[in-house]
Amino acid sequence: MILEKKLEDLILNVSCRAALSAKYLVGKKDKVSADKAAVDAMRSELNKIDIKGEIVIGEGELDEAPMLFIGEKVGSMKGPNLDIAVDPLEGTNFAANNLPGALAVIAVAGKNNLFNAPETYMNKISADVTEKGIIDLDFTTKENVYNLCEYKNKKPSDITVCILERSRHKKIIEDLKNLKVNLKLISDGDVSGALLVTDKKHNVDLFMGIGGGPEGVLAASALDSFNCFFQGKFIFNNEQDKIRAKKMGINNFDKKYELNEIISGDSIFCATGITSGDLVSGVEIINNEFISETLITHKSTGLKKKIKIRQNI
Ligand code: FBP
Repeated sequence: MILEKKLEDLILNVSCRAALSAKYLVGKKDKVSADKAAVDAMRSELNKIDIKGEIVIGEGELDEAPMLFIGEKVGSMKGPNLDIAVDPLEGTNFAANNLPGALAVIAVAGKNNLFNAPETYMNKISADVTEKGIIDLDFTTKENVYNLCEYKNKKPSDITVCILERSRHKKIIEDLKNLKVNLKLISDGDVSGALLVTDKKHNVDLFMGIGGGPEGVLAASALDSFNCFFQGKFIFNNEQDKIRAKKMGINNFDKKYELNEIISGDSIFCATGITSGDLVSGVEIINNEFISETLITHKSTGLKKKIKIRQNI
């Protein structure tokens, strides 16, 4: 199913409005309120659009999320059937503490084309690589780095690897240090981390490590338009996680998902800056107008660029 071009502006607007709403709560040390502001705005804007949308990745299940819960129907219920993944405030700590990198993120695809991901961790890997067998979640860190170096004709000391700074990554980070690659350790925000490989300007060659599963699906949606490589493997730490996954139709808990098993067909992705970060700049409010910057992709039209727009509040 091809998504109409006019949806680009509509989804862009949803993302910009969510970013604006969260912007008012930047630096207030209240991540719950900032998240709620972005969620409310995203939901109310989605409901203005002529789509039959269903949230497949959202704020959680109905019992834990009053809005934008998984399975919630959004839109006017006229128009195309769409699957929608949202992370209205990606980087809640960034927004609460006025740090760089908070984003409003949304991806839409045709019905059943966007993976219905459980709220568990995911082991992920991405790079600007088109061939299979260069990087892989099943390879060792050393194999991934050496293969990528050969592919890019670079030395390990010339490549940069982005990874969340977490104790669970101690061993990988140690291995990377021993391989003499450059590290870009991020404190949060691995949607952005995974997407830094899409543009040479960011100087990141490889993204790897464990972060949120929903964030992985969102990143994969954009990486598909950039023709980049992504793999993800969910991590089910307890019985509860497995029960939830089963409800979503996942029976093989060890499966490694290729990009097109996560997102297929046409898709539109938007990530709007709330605070300025590596990917995009943050919202600027000037009197009764605001300027926002969004990374937008649309697979079928080949659109993949950053758009800065000025709108009335
Ligand atoms: P929130 O916006 O929900 O706080 O998520 C931020 C984030 O850093 C994600 O980008 C990442 O996928 C996840 O948290 C990592 O989780 P954890 O902090 O538990 O390691």
